[in-house]
Amino acid sequence: MVKIDLGIKGKKVIVTAASKGIGFATAKRFLEEGAKVIISSHDENNLKKAYEKLKEIGEVYYIVTDLTRPNEVENLIKNGYNILGGLDVLVYVTGSPKPGNIFELSNDDWINAFYLLLMSAVVAVREAGKLMRENGRIILSTSMTLKEPISNLDLSNVVRLSLAGLIKVASKELGERGILVNGIMPGWTLTDRVDQLVKDRARRENRKEEEVIREIVKEVPLKRMAKPEEVANVILFLASDLASYVNGVLIPVDGGLIKATL
Ligand SMILES: NC(=O)c1ccc[n+]([C@@H]2O[C@H](COP(=O)([O-])OP(=O)(O)OC[C@H]3O[C@@H](n4cnc5c(N)ncnc54)[C@H](OP(=O)(O)O)[C@@H]3O)[C@@H](O)[C@H]2O)c1
Repeated sequence: MVKIDLGIKGKKVIVTAASKGIGFATAKRFLEEGAKVIISSHDENNLKKAYEKLKEIGEVYYIVTDLTRPNEVENLIKNGYNILGGLDVLVYVTGSPKPGNIFELSNDDWINAFYLLLMSAVVAVREAGKLMRENGRIILSTSMTLKEPISNLDLSNVVRLSLAGLIKVASKELGERGILVNGIMPGWTLTDRVDQLVKDRARRENRKEEEVIREIVKEVPLKRMAKPEEVANVILFLASDLASYVNGVLIPVDGGLIKATL
């Protein structure tokens, strides 16, 4: 197989919500390509476990950050920049919002989701944008709910949609300085969280896990979930030299699940 040089080697990268799942897989792929990476998340024990696994691969640091606290997000970017000696790539991933529909969710749930899903992204993009130089990359991992609501996930369906606006305005403001801002919209991805959800449902309904997965993915043309690395690879592409003229877009990584044509 021909190996393409992605231009990632030596890049200074911060990945948020990286103790598990999509964030962890992304940090791992950057390290495999020779980047220096800061991982962050809010549970220090989980973050340390992730750090122990990743330090075998490359130069990695961790900073505990609760994404619902804007001052911690600001400190992550500033301290990350100082530790790495610069910042080339910010990958923003976040935790999952509480499930529920508008009649079940409280005012506080909406306010918390605002901090988790939107404010953290605004602060991360703003602070990274101030520090990055030309050819910097900002990639926000969102969800397919930006294109198509998923029932019982109204915090994601409503609050997360604002990230489409953030990506567009930031791509214009920062594009003028040669910094590219893009996003991805993952569909079903087999992270530990989804694996647990499948196991729970299989146990409750006395069914096999494969059966539960088949039912979940029956609308997905590829008839399977993504591996977290498959999502991480698209993020890696957006951070690479190959994506030098891609700015202000949101790429679905959903196996074809989103039904809309455009
Ligand atoms: N998996 C999917 O099918 C899928 C599809 C579309 C979108 N998404 C979205 O993609 C994101 C990642 O999903 P995932 O499946 O990779 O989840 P995951 O495996 O549960 O990982 C979630 C990550 O978020 C961190 N986190 C949670 N709350 C946080 C907070 N307040 N501050 C900082 N970090 C926090 C967790 O760290 P701690 O160790 O600190 O808890 C963990 O590292 C979520 O927003 C999810 O809604 C997932």
